[in-house]
Amino acid sequence: MLTDPFGRTVKNLRISVTNRCNLNCIYCHREGESNPGKEMSAERIAEIAKAFYDLGVKKLKLTGGEPLLREDICEIISMMPNFEEISLTTNGTLLKDLAFDLKESGLDRVNISLDTLNADIYSYLTGGGKLQNVLEGIRCAVEANLTPIKLNMVLMKNLNEFEVFKMLNFTNSFNKEKTNVILQLIELIPNTKTKDLYLDPEIFEEEFAKIAMAVKIRDMHKRKQFFTSLGIVEIVKPLDNTEFCMHCNRIRVTSDGKIKLCLMNKETVDISNLSGNELKKAIFEAIRLRKPFFR
Ligand code: 5AD
Repeated sequence: MLTDPFGRTVKNLRISVTNRCNLNCIYCHREGESNPGKEMSAERIAEIAKAFYDLGVKKLKLTGGEPLLREDICEIISMMPNFEEISLTTNGTLLKDLAFDLKESGLDRVNISLDTLNADIYSYLTGGGKLQNVLEGIRCAVEANLTPIKLNMVLMKNLNEFEVFKMLNFTNSFNKEKTNVILQLIELIPNTKTKDLYLDPEIFEEEFAKIAMAVKIRDMHKRKQFFTSLGIVEIVKPLDNTEFCMHCNRIRVTSDGKIKLCLMNKETVDISNLSGNELKKAIFEAIRLRKPFFR
């Protein structure tokens, strides 16, 4: 097992398959990649995924940039080892035409970024994105059974704070016979450009606690999930949160094939040119370097 010096066992792997994106969101942290080199080939992605899988990692998430911009995304998914779950984070704009093929290739579920149901605000936030494409993408993902879908909503002052309950209601409109869609309310990790948009999700957490029929605390990051009559909502609070970091069980691989130990930390571990046992040994050693950002 891949356990770090803080007793945290790495169970989830996130591989960025591209740094390219067809949107330009005002807050995007680009998965912490500042100056990426060449994109990995599908074969290299599969090789790295297999090494982590052999070392006991259970779940895989493919991220970007926008992963659906890779023309070989279905091939990449079909080359993956037998993870308990393979998911993908997408902006949803290209999902309409791909949802069924992705499912067929072995993708279990998707997270879709959607911060607002207002087309003008959506366009502003994403640098010209069309809300309608995403809404159609969500519908197709539900039909293709890429569920449960999580809608990622990054909370922003004055921009979408008034839409939280509307979004929750929206997720529930897909939940007729089973839970297809849940809301994931995410604390903004601000930068100099977005610091005025920061809003602590605490106030919503309190509201959800009041109306929840049940509350579940996940192992990962000790995230809270509220089950309400309006829908299911999970809160993600990555900032100044020792619980979050002490229960972080994920590790990242950048689009140019380096290990990234923590989203908030620039440090990467170069594993290029390594294969087989050497690659596994390097992964094992990288895990020894993991440390919680907030503690
Ligand atoms: N703060 C919080 N979440 C972010 N994401 C990207 N940038 C940020 C940020 N600054 C997350 C959102 C988005 C996904 C692609 O990455 O959840 O939906």
